[in-house]
Amino acid sequence: MLEMNQDPLNPVINAVQGIYGRKDQAHDLEHALRVREWGKKIGIQESADLVIVELAAILHDIGRSGTLSRTHAESGSALAGGILQKCGYPENIIEAVKTAVLSHSREGYEPETLEAKILYDADKLDFVGPIGIARLFAWAGKEGKPFFGPDSCESFYRERISHYHKHLYTETARVLFEPLFLYSENFWSELEKMRLKKD
Ligand SMILES: [Fe+2]
Ligand SMILES: [Fe+2]
Repeated sequence: MLEMNQDPLNPVINAVQGIYGRKDQAHDLEHALRVREWGKKIGIQESADLVIVELAAILHDIGRSGTLSRTHAESGSALAGGILQKCGYPENIIEAVKTAVLSHSREGYEPETLEAKILYDADKLDFVGPIGIARLFAWAGKEGKPFFGPDSCESFYRERISHYHKHLYTETARVLFEPLFLYSENFWSELEKMRLKKD
């Protein structure tokens, strides 16, 4: 019997658990579930279809170990379709989720629907603040990147993450982003002070 407060998206979460288990800590199931929470927060304020936003968030990074000829968003979108079909979702929801996953990293596809825009924004919120910093260092450690210098944690932050606020689609995300972004900016200026200086 269905428990009163059982998460209706559990079948989908169970289906992706194994896939996310093979990813690094920056892109694991916890990341997807945090993006789901951000998505819910933004979606409520922006009057979006929450089922689509939440499903897209849970599924958005499942394509990260796909083939090199496709982006992780392209692989993820195709995989997401199969999973949702198996879980019995109707075609209109499947198509909307696939569209959102496909454009979540803006690699060749721009988010056009409200739900796709919210997924993009929700994903970006997980790049800033304490979690964002932890994720950046987890990812860099796995990739063997240094803290400072070219192709480092710092360069990834300065060249990419610190510009994310300029591309957010929703006002709700911009408001949520601001304090976390300030936290990250402060962290990097404090870290810079502790950096070994060459004379
Ligand atoms: Fe992604
Ligand atoms: Fe992500």
